[in-house]
Amino acid sequence: MSDKKPVFKPNKEFAKNANIKNMCEYHDLQDKAMEDYEGFWGDAAKEKIDWIEPFTNVLDESHAPFVKWFDGGKLNVSAQCIDRHLDSRKNKAAIIFEGDRGDIQTITYLDLYKHVNRFANLLKEDFHVKKGDRVVIYMPMIPEAAYAMLACARIGAIHSIVFGGFSSEALRDRIEDAEAKVVITADGAFRKEKPYMLKPVVDAALEGKTPVEKVIVVQRNHEDVEWVAGRDYSYNEMIERKSSKCEPEVMDSEDPLFLLYTSGSTGKPKGVQHNSAGYILWAQMTMEWVFDVKENDTYWCTADVGWITGHTYIVYGPLAMGATTVMFEGVITFPDAGRPWSMVENHRINQFYTAPTAIRVLHKMGEHEPAKYDMSSLKVLGTVGEPIDPPAWKWYYEEVGQSRCSIVDTYWQTETGGHVISPLPGATPIKPGCATFPLPGIMAEILDPATGEKVEVGEKGYMCITKPWPAQIRGVWGDEERYVKSYFGDVEKDGKPVYFTGDGAVYDEDGYITITGRTDDVINVSGHRMGTAEVEAAIKKHSNVAEVAVVGKPHPLKGEGIFAYIVLKSDDGIADEVEEVKAINNIIKKEIGNIALCDDMVFVSGLPKTRSGKIMRRILRSIAKNEEVTQDISTLEDPSIVEKIAAMVK
Ligand code: WT7
Repeated sequence: MSDKKPVFKPNKEFAKNANIKNMCEYHDLQDKAMEDYEGFWGDAAKEKIDWIEPFTNVLDESHAPFVKWFDGGKLNVSAQCIDRHLDSRKNKAAIIFEGDRGDIQTITYLDLYKHVNRFANLLKEDFHVKKGDRVVIYMPMIPEAAYAMLACARIGAIHSIVFGGFSSEALRDRIEDAEAKVVITADGAFRKEKPYMLKPVVDAALEGKTPVEKVIVVQRNHEDVEWVAGRDYSYNEMIERKSSKCEPEVMDSEDPLFLLYTSGSTGKPKGVQHNSAGYILWAQMTMEWVFDVKENDTYWCTADVGWITGHTYIVYGPLAMGATTVMFEGVITFPDAGRPWSMVENHRINQFYTAPTAIRVLHKMGEHEPAKYDMSSLKVLGTVGEPIDPPAWKWYYEEVGQSRCSIVDTYWQTETGGHVISPLPGATPIKPGCATFPLPGIMAEILDPATGEKVEVGEKGYMCITKPWPAQIRGVWGDEERYVKSYFGDVEKDGKPVYFTGDGAVYDEDGYITITGRTDDVINVSGHRMGTAEVEAAIKKHSNVAEVAVVGKPHPLKGEGIFAYIVLKSDDGIADEVEEVKAINNIIKKEIGNIALCDDMVFVSGLPKTRSGKIMRRILRSIAKNEEVTQDISTLEDPSIVEKIAAMVK
């Protein structure tokens, strides 16, 4: 019997007007990039970016893996996203905001220009933020978050957004690592019709010694918050007085645009640095190719601005191309699982982009909800963050997309800046669960780490990108060595280190790429990256924890759940375990945030270790899944521990 996956061809009517209409056009583009890499990217940059001064060199690889794109070029990313649209799109909606309680704001490109300029002037004049300064943004999903990002870009400040679900300790770490001098936050916002708070988290993060001098507070829910005199200022009170004109700072192509902290397999989160020209170019190109957004379309990505998806595909990409982007404050299952579909109907959404975990939840809670709404505006459906399982894919395709829409399974990472492997909605015949092919210009290959050769069909290998691309990570903030080691230390092709994503992947007989998941100690919880080392470090802060090992375990809704094996110093029996679980969860909440709470915690008498003391996580992963342990355990320091742990888990 063949295990061939079904193939779904793009809708013919849709393909006729698509930006890339068929696979021939795709291959032509990719061939051009292969034959003349610099020509391909140079032409794209000339065409897409409004340069203040043209670049003189396309790609400088002389200090690889430190690379420079479009050297000599001068631009401003906020001008690319706003100013250049004012002639033709002044009254077009740039952002449509829908609040948790259904409140709607339409912000035109002219409105956006004014908001961003005022905010830029506020940062510059009242808070003395200069080019190169770091500004931490800890915000809910409200338009002011986008204004803050673009205001930083306008004056050349480097923003670092910290997801609003992170705790005060996580926020403090990121503030300190970036040495931010200003924090932009909000009193809070609304979730399920109730106010929730952010400002108290900022207050806690800034206790004691901190590089932060000032805090700007956007008043969104108008709840009472504490104000520290001389440190905290109300955005709402100050902003109206600012001029709505602020000259954009002239930035070099390689001036940093933002930092975004993400988890690695070891140590603390790393500050992934993205620079100006290459990032914005690719954000715009992928919007046009992968979502096929047309002038009158309305596009909605459900991510949070605290993640890279929110950066590239809610704010920078859509605005760079002059699109209308929807921003949603609320929870997609509230008041019921029809919420997103009622928004599709009300706003006439044409492209909808979300994560498999959200699809699974919406499917489970409201299998036939989409049918209650007018979904006829939808053309392209996107997914991101983790592999999408066949049942979720099928429901998304049939019920949400009415078997008419293309599904783009977009594979990328914080470090890639934008999509790198994805179907093109008017061209690529899609297979469920398959990210398909590298986008034009991206030299992605699955390599055998031992030989650096491309793997054979059906053989698992490492997902690598063998040539620099414009939106690639430029560095880990403050740690050159970590950048080189984390991304260029595992695979060499033709004797040269290449970028390794950390993911495994496989080709099928038609050359389609399927991502099989991380090869390192990073787990993917609801599409969020979590380092097992970070969760372990938090748990170790509990005074009664002697040892801990954290692994991922498949979870029906979240993709992966967090499974912790804990060895206590004193084991006073089951009665106390309930208390210990509570106490450990409280520590995780404080150190990282609710997103890192464990789904399972088991207290064990020891961990499987090699004689040199290395914890054998593979064994722990098998036990967590209730799988037979097939690994060789004879080399363990104490092989009998495996059986004991397995008995505890069953
Ligand atoms: C990791 C990156 C990219 C924005 C959201 C997450 C996994 C991402 C897919 C996909 C299979 C995927 C990978 C990757 N991932 N998209 N379409 N299919 N896996 O960004 O937090 O940087 O995580 O998410 O494991 O390395 P991130």
